[in-house]
Amino acid sequence: MRDPTESLKDEPVPDIAQPEDRVGIEDFERDARERLPQMVFDYYEGGAGDEWTLAENRRAFDRWVLRPRFLVGVEKVDLSTTLLGRPIPFPIGVAPTAFHRLAHPDGELATARGALSLGAVMVVSTISTVPLEEVAATGVDRWFQLYVMRDHSLAEDLIRRAHAAGYRALVLTVDTPQLGPRLRDVRNRFTLPPGIGLANLPRLPMPDGRLPGGRAAGSELSDLFAAEHDASLSWDDVAWLRSVSPMPLVLKGILTAEDARLAAEAGVDGIMVSNHGGRQLDGAPAALDALPEVAEAVDEHVEVMMDGGVRRGIDVLKALALGARAVFVGRPILWGLACGGEEGVRRILEMLRDDLTLAMRLTGRRTIAEVDRSLVARAQGSWGGP
Ligand code: FNR
Repeated sequence: MRDPTESLKDEPVPDIAQPEDRVGIEDFERDARERLPQMVFDYYEGGAGDEWTLAENRRAFDRWVLRPRFLVGVEKVDLSTTLLGRPIPFPIGVAPTAFHRLAHPDGELATARGALSLGAVMVVSTISTVPLEEVAATGVDRWFQLYVMRDHSLAEDLIRRAHAAGYRALVLTVDTPQLGPRLRDVRNRFTLPPGIGLANLPRLPMPDGRLPGGRAAGSELSDLFAAEHDASLSWDDVAWLRSVSPMPLVLKGILTAEDARLAAEAGVDGIMVSNHGGRQLDGAPAALDALPEVAEAVDEHVEVMMDGGVRRGIDVLKALALGARAVFVGRPILWGLACGGEEGVRRILEMLRDDLTLAMRLTGRRTIAEVDRSLVARAQGSWGGP
């Protein structure tokens, strides 16, 4: 582990050294831990509070078994499907995560190029470290994730810019009225190094909660949200966003049937079932556990996606069987980015895609349409089993 205060500017970020040594996402995570300053690794890896929800996101996959069918002829497997009415080559996308230049000097540009090389959708964060127009210029299939600040004209500007730059959907994150209690970041006094900032909101100052001597008093990101993010956001604002945005609207962070029904009534196009990677409410259910009730509540009127803990092809299968049209991954992309920039991101997505193909073969599913509820059953003796 590196010293948290070590300058990022001087970080050597060599390209992938021995790619053959990395056969799973955990191998990229191990190497990212070595390469990144501790403050950055902790920011990427950590969750809120006791990190119970973070761990649940993974454990939830263990509560389901796969029911394989055989002798169905699986030489050809087709992963293609559609999302928000557009074809995608495979049902795995890049979740919005902040501050990619903390992992690699090319930041979100490298992520976009990696995603583009496989045709994957990338959701670009409001708090990216490369302007949204420059990410768009890579040609990646892109959606824009929105945080609404107190000054609503900032959101209206971002929406105009995103639409002009060819973003195909607006993803409103609803689970972050205030930043969750990320204790690692408070302990590390998380701060952005000089030269890395909010590229989409250059006039929004990072709050100066600094102690004498230049160190931040706590997490700079937490202070930013407390000062600038609009905690008064309500369902009325969903109507406002629909009225000002020509893009399809996805709500990210819905975890209950009640909110799913309200989202459907509000006319949204998509729901991303998510607990923000365990970084907001500790004690919230695993995303996979919340997925069936959300999918059931909207009954195909709204496209349901999920993120949180997806690390293997079999995880993708379980999520699809429980009602998701596609899944998104957050941290694995950051590990790929830290290990090898564009090529690292490409490897992560390729690994997940190929692992999904293998899982389809081993379960006797040839197309995404054949992945249905009969593919999964509760693991025997597990929590909440039938
Ligand atoms: C996030 N996430 C996130 N979500 C969002 O809507 N806007 C954002 O800017 C960020 N930033 C962010 C930074 C980091 C470092 C992480 C790890 C996560 C949440 C993200 O979109 C997604 O919900 C989770 O990362 C999914 O869980 P996994 O795949 O990381 O387990």
